Amino acid sequence: MIPNLVVEPEAGTDDPVPPRGTRGAHRLWGGRFASGPAPELDALNRSIGTDLRLWPFDVRLSKAWAVALWHAGVLTLEESAAIERGLDGVADRLTAGETPLASDEDVHTLIDRLLHEEIGDVASKLHTGRSRNDQVATATRMWAMDACITLDSAVRALQRTMLDRAVELGATLMPSYTHLQRAQPVLAAHWMLSHFWPLDRDRARLEGASRAAGVLPLGSGAIAGSAFPVSRVLLQGSLGFAALSRNSIDAVSDRDFVAELLFGTTMLATHLSRLAEDLILFGSSEFGFVRFGDTFTTGSSMMPQKRNPDALEIARGSGARLLGDLVALLGTIKGLPTGYNKDLQDDKRVLFDAVDTMLLVLPAVTGTLAELSFRADRMKAALASSMMATDLADYLVEKGASFREAHAAVGALVREAEEKRGELTTLPFESFASAHSAFDRDVFESLSALRSVERREVEGGTGPGAVRAQIDAARASLAEKWENARGNELRLVTP
Ligand code: ARG
Repeated sequence: MIPNLVVEPEAGTDDPVPPRGTRGAHRLWGGRFASGPAPELDALNRSIGTDLRLWPFDVRLSKAWAVALWHAGVLTLEESAAIERGLDGVADRLTAGETPLASDEDVHTLIDRLLHEEIGDVASKLHTGRSRNDQVATATRMWAMDACITLDSAVRALQRTMLDRAVELGATLMPSYTHLQRAQPVLAAHWMLSHFWPLDRDRARLEGASRAAGVLPLGSGAIAGSAFPVSRVLLQGSLGFAALSRNSIDAVSDRDFVAELLFGTTMLATHLSRLAEDLILFGSSEFGFVRFGDTFTTGSSMMPQKRNPDALEIARGSGARLLGDLVALLGTIKGLPTGYNKDLQDDKRVLFDAVDTMLLVLPAVTGTLAELSFRADRMKAALASSMMATDLADYLVEKGASFREAHAAVGALVREAEEKRGELTTLPFESFASAHSAFDRDVFESLSALRSVERREVEGGTGPGAVRAQIDAARASLAEKWENARGNELRLVTP
């Protein structure tokens, strides 16, 4: 994190008038200006506080660019090698924690300044044929591809925990809910895995976003394409991109990959918010299906008895923040005129916020889920016999009644049980017989929750065999790794 940067007057200035902007600052532009920018503009324009973290990617693409310039006959081998070595020096300094100056406009300016400090004037040749427009687009895409891999592994960690918990739950039964009203009995493992598959879809979206990011804009220059015969194919291979952008005007302003990653993370946050809400509800005394552990809950400063599921509440709330990030980006892109516009500088603020937030939330949700305990007794106690009403109707269907007729007969029985403040199981057989003539003495067997669950062996159903198959499929989905295009970085110098 970069502390708030304060513009200091340059040393050695005894000018009583406050300096206009950061005079003497290292800039990538300025020749056509008689004076530097106003401090108010500098303060607004500076993005180093946000984009500093792009430096490893900017260094990497700059090294590839130096090689490409040599290949194009723009730099000698010695110059290209000197720039590469210089960039390694810059990377070492940044790794060691070198902080930017107040006057460094953005990460590209910072790296350029440090490169000048490392190797002197030859550094000035690196910016030949490129612009910060294609540079920032390239670095942001590399960052995004990396982020997708990191997010994917954090999502998989949560999924592994879900799978472990599902296996542990075994034959435990619980109520399922529609409209938050008791619906039908299910295996608790089935409920647990209902939160697994949305994350599987999120992983597919992350992969899609990574693919969208894997198109190389470098070589597009400011907008019209580089005038030097750089090999973009060579750049693509060395930087691990899957394809080359086809149009330089589009390439410098295409932020679809940011939008796709933000949509992917927003859906992920949305899914986490639903899991969090289920667990918060189930952890309340009213449900009591789960008991939270010590390390992912907090107490109250006033009420000594409290144990609050903060991690889950923050996870639930973070969905709103990510939605805001997505909407901000879409709003920025909408109606943007052709080519690069400075509005796009804000793409990184929302992109980083969304990814950072998910990388904080995911491990906390995983931890909460891993340490909570399930209360099978409370789940079982919540299985009212009215939840087997559908099974009762199915019973009549099997005896030849139409489903509509069966639905009406069972509805009448439920009403009767409700009026008597009892359960379907406590009604006398005579009530069943008068509700429908097809009812036999064996009717009470169809009021068993276990039997209800066992009857649902359809693929994707809650039957024990179907859930076993589901667990196998879930396990197989976690084994899938996406191929990583990165690697084989072309180097001219061996360090
Ligand atoms: N900091 C800028 C950004 O993030 C870099 C590109 C600036 N380009 C320019 N022509 N001023 O978008």
